[in-house]
Amino acid sequence: MDKILILDFGSQTTQLIGRRIRDLGVYTEILPGDSVINDEIPGAAARAGKVKGLILSGSPESVYDQGAAPDKKIYSCGLPLLGICYGLQRMNFDQGGKVEPLPKREYGRIGVSVRKNFVAYNETAGGANSAAAECFLKAFHPRFTAWMSHGDTLTALAPGLREYGTSDTGYPAVVIHDEKPWFGLQFHPEVSHCEDGLEILSAFVFGVCGCGAGWTMEKYAEEVRAALGSRVGKNPVLLLISGGVDSTVAGALLLRTLESDQVHLMYMDTGLMRKDETKTVKANLERLGAKHLHIVHCEDEFLSALKGLTDPEAKRRAIGDLFITIQEREVARLGLPDNYFLAQGTLYTDLIESGKGVGKKARLIKSHHNVGSPLVDRKRKAGRVIEPLDRLYKDEVRRLGRLLGVDEEVIRRHPFPGPGLAVRILGEVSREKCDILREADAIFIEELKRRPAPRADGGAAQNNLSLYDDIWQAFAVLLPVRSVGVAGDVRKYGWVLALRAITSADGMTADVYPFQTRDLLEISTRITNSVKAIGRVTYDISSKPPATIEWE
Ligand code: XMP
Repeated sequence: MDKILILDFGSQTTQLIGRRIRDLGVYTEILPGDSVINDEIPGAAARAGKVKGLILSGSPESVYDQGAAPDKKIYSCGLPLLGICYGLQRMNFDQGGKVEPLPKREYGRIGVSVRKNFVAYNETAGGANSAAAECFLKAFHPRFTAWMSHGDTLTALAPGLREYGTSDTGYPAVVIHDEKPWFGLQFHPEVSHCEDGLEILSAFVFGVCGCGAGWTMEKYAEEVRAALGSRVGKNPVLLLISGGVDSTVAGALLLRTLESDQVHLMYMDTGLMRKDETKTVKANLERLGAKHLHIVHCEDEFLSALKGLTDPEAKRRAIGDLFITIQEREVARLGLPDNYFLAQGTLYTDLIESGKGVGKKARLIKSHHNVGSPLVDRKRKAGRVIEPLDRLYKDEVRRLGRLLGVDEEVIRRHPFPGPGLAVRILGEVSREKCDILREADAIFIEELKRRPAPRADGGAAQNNLSLYDDIWQAFAVLLPVRSVGVAGDVRKYGWVLALRAITSADGMTADVYPFQTRDLLEISTRITNSVKAIGRVTYDISSKPPATIEWE
């Protein structure tokens, strides 16, 4: 299988480059920008397949400041290179060109004019890079609107590099080498606001690098199952299940590949779950053929650990610590032989965000507790961790899930945080509050599932999509505030509930879902009519940033 390697210098949009190219049917891997490129390249860090091209990502840094440099071998390995933003500046700088700060940072949509006629413009036409360059330039309209975000620009091109596109602000926007298969864009073709973006990436991947579109989910599933089977053999495997899409799909993959007697699934009912969650998880896994499903009921333990805690980080820490304690205890209780494998539903993005796989470490805003644990660390040291989804993005996991016959309800499920309702009950958590929130949240979600999504033009339903499908994540939050109301003729002093619904690509940023007012009004009425403890409903209209998706 052909693949494109992306060297990540820390841009916010590096992952998007990978996504877009995978959508074109070509496998991508993201590596830290300064990875050592060994002599086998094409092949560095390549688990399988043939590297056909390298992309240098953007970066928040400057080449003349502390911006990371790629291994110089990328310039002698003979592979086609595509520099995007910083990637282009890096390439130009490393080859002896000049990069300087702009008087004013450029951000957003900017027009670009392209000299498409390679032959007419280039007196060295016929040089080694001519055919690829012509093919690359075909993807561009002579004028198009690009999307840029940069504070530096090329002020002198390195020998061999030539300008084919210029921004309306007068700076080089498209650069191609005369002889070598090197291409550079000052803008971001991976961003959806960039016209011609997908065509440009496609021209590089197929036209310049000559990749075949061999990345399909069927093929991936086949590959992963074969690898899984030979690595695990007849040993037992333990998978920790959260009930979400990722761990359920990982479970399905194990159950569809190994003997059901080998597969042990463990799920903790913390009492901080959504309504009927445990029942649903159990039913789903049993339908997939699970024989050894260990459900640990530990609601009381979690509620006592949370007693008296109001600070969000203290709550998260208490939950994380208890998870670890119970995990150790329950796994020991299973009495599996030492050689068992531990499976996790880790995704490609989880690796990136935890700084394990690639790229830079995200700054800590909240301690997401479920990335690691002493058990995982021990098993990892022993080389006994299996992460069969660690090359997939979320929507690819959904596709894999469908292929493996996972229930559509699970596949379409919104994400749910590890600490569960504890981070949606602001302040101290109690059993009573969990019950109130569970009830209100279930009504909210049920309403979203039965209401059609509005069409973009304001008309009725789009392809039978429900509001739930149109929304990336929705949930209710119980505030530690009571307010006065009236029920019948009697004064009521009820809790305030906030509804949250957002659109997002990956949870890193989020926009508020623009409900039709009527939907919100009807949902609010149903909640206050059905959940007596709630006296008032509000809608959270904060985007991320500056807010986060969860309230704690
Ligand atoms: P925030 O609140 O950080 O959430 O904007 C981003 C996404 O992550 C989910 N989230 C978590 N997921 N463990 C998880 O597995 C956690 O501790 C956690 N905290 C937040 C959140 O629901 C949203 O989808």
